[in-house]
Amino acid sequence: MSINTAKQFKILAKDSMQSAKFDHAIEILQEALKQNPEDRELFELLGDAYKAIENREGAIISYTDALNLDPGHLGIALKLATASLTGANYIDALKVIHQCVKPERYIEIGVCKGVSFQLADVESIAIGIDPAPQLDLTLLPKKHCVIAQTSDDYFNANRIMDDLQGKCFDLAFLDGMHLFEFALRDFINLEKYAAVDSVICIHDLYPLSAATATRERNTAFWSGDVWKLGLCLQEYRPDLNFSLLPCPPTGLAVVTDLDASSNVLAQHYDEILEKYLDLSFDILMENKAEKLSLVGMDHPLLFSSLLL
Ligand SMILES: C[S@@+](CC[C@H](N)C(=O)[O-])C[C@H]1O[C@@H](n2cnc3c(N)ncnc32)[C@H](O)[C@@H]1O
Repeated sequence: MSINTAKQFKILAKDSMQSAKFDHAIEILQEALKQNPEDRELFELLGDAYKAIENREGAIISYTDALNLDPGHLGIALKLATASLTGANYIDALKVIHQCVKPERYIEIGVCKGVSFQLADVESIAIGIDPAPQLDLTLLPKKHCVIAQTSDDYFNANRIMDDLQGKCFDLAFLDGMHLFEFALRDFINLEKYAAVDSVICIHDLYPLSAATATRERNTAFWSGDVWKLGLCLQEYRPDLNFSLLPCPPTGLAVVTDLDASSNVLAQHYDEILEKYLDLSFDILMENKAEKLSLVGMDHPLLFSSLLL
């Protein structure tokens, strides 16, 4: 019997995968792709087959090809994320960071439904800032509050020290507007209220693909151009201790050795924007992990904790 439709190839490949004959499935799918190089599902299945035999590189290439054919496909974006980043999911990683830091004062920019915000201990002071929070504010523990404002408006209102009851924050999570200049301002504004041992975690510094890293949102899965903040911090603030952990879907940076008195970023703000705003995702096409300083799974933060 000659096989000549993509549908037939897919049925055969799925049958092989169900019988755990992944190498055979890969052969079928590679053959199918010669005839149907624009078929997104064939690439996705090929990625699944590579993933099943723990061929990460093959899975990443195949899911990337699939995503390039359908840049807005959420399911493939998530598959690419877990193939590319092998650490714990960012929420599980944050949970461990809360357990290690035990923050008495926690601040989060970008709360949304409160998944990460609710990791804060009920007995701690927790301040969330989000112009459009999507959680029931009447159900928050006594010491938690979510302020429905943009982070710029919040910092301009000069109320943070009152909200923190006169002390620096211990842990902050930066996950607000996914645009470089907003994230940069959030970092500058937050660091002023950091103690020497405070920690700032930053989400989304490891973008998945060009389509999900644009400045205008075109896809369901979107991390914007916040990734530039990692490059900027390492260039302008080598004094910071910066680690980008491989936590899916888009990385989790942990920044320590903060310096509330530093005004380097604020002083160079215009110069930084000029340098980074137009930086193209193309620069990440090769050696993305190295360029963004993604740490390996042997990094002490991962090795010695539960973040694996
Ligand atoms: C990805 S969601 C946050 C998810 C949340 N941290 C979590 O992990 O569960 C991003 C949030 O940032 C908020 N946001 C957008 N612009 C903002 C701004 N200028 N300041 C603060 N938050 C902003 C959005 O309303 C949205 O709820």
